[in-house]
Amino acid sequence: MPAQLLDGNILSKKLRAKIAARGAIVTAKGVRPGLAVIVVGDNPASQIYVRNKVKACEDVGFHSVLESFSVELGEAELLARIATLNADPSIHGILVQLPLPEHIASERVLEAIAPQKDVDGFHIANAGALMVGHPQFKPCTPYGCMKILENIDYPIRGARAVIVGASNIVGKPMALLLLQAGATVTICNSKTRDLAHHTKDADILVVATGKAKMITGDMIKTGAVVIDVGINRMPDGKLCGDVDFDTAKYIAGWITPVPGGVGPMTITMLLMNTLEAAEKAAKL
Ligand code: GUN
Repeated sequence: MPAQLLDGNILSKKLRAKIAARGAIVTAKGVRPGLAVIVVGDNPASQIYVRNKVKACEDVGFHSVLESFSVELGEAELLARIATLNADPSIHGILVQLPLPEHIASERVLEAIAPQKDVDGFHIANAGALMVGHPQFKPCTPYGCMKILENIDYPIRGARAVIVGASNIVGKPMALLLLQAGATVTICNSKTRDLAHHTKDADILVVATGKAKMITGDMIKTGAVVIDVGINRMPDGKLCGDVDFDTAKYIAGWITPVPGGVGPMTITMLLMNTLEAAEKAAKL
């Protein structure tokens, strides 16, 4: 039997309606949730992502600003812009789209964002809070993956979870969230020997490698939940994930499609973090 589809668009729609309703309450108290999105350079994928983030804000009634800078922007100018946004009471969340051009040190930029406005959850203070089990802002993509599991009432406690990919943005925070929920967690990376040995053991398999279709059906345990974080463009222009959907769907119990799985959830959780930042600012 083919796997059940984990539709991120449907779940996002439900969650965004709740976010809009909570946003209206905080707005009525004089604090309209506000997000500033900064992008440097003309990376086409980044341009699409930031436009989608700003549009999502508009759709739920949030204030948003998109600041698009040329690739020539210096690090000092970017840091100065962040300092201004840190002090701006109409802005509750600041997001700097990654990757940044090579002449700008991403760590210095991420550390310059006030932790209480770091709705990406990338600041070292927020990463540390997550590690000790008291997350403030959870990174949006792993947070969205957890919501997908919550939506199907998946029993995470005691489950074997395998994450393929160990990035700071997805793999590592995903591992911490699953660990906190009681899973037994393995993180695989590009040097892992016999990857299939690990992936076949997973009740929950999260794949975030950026390598198109690298996880095939024969690498998946029958009935597993497969969450595909990858978005890759194929030579024919179509999008595909890091999981080979056509073979995986016959083995998995549940699977996220690409597009329409994790992607919309990442933006939804960004809205949630921005809302929570505004609620804290309003002392709700
Ligand atoms: N680049 C790829 N994913 C992300 C994300 O979640 N946040 C930011 N700021 N940049 C990204």
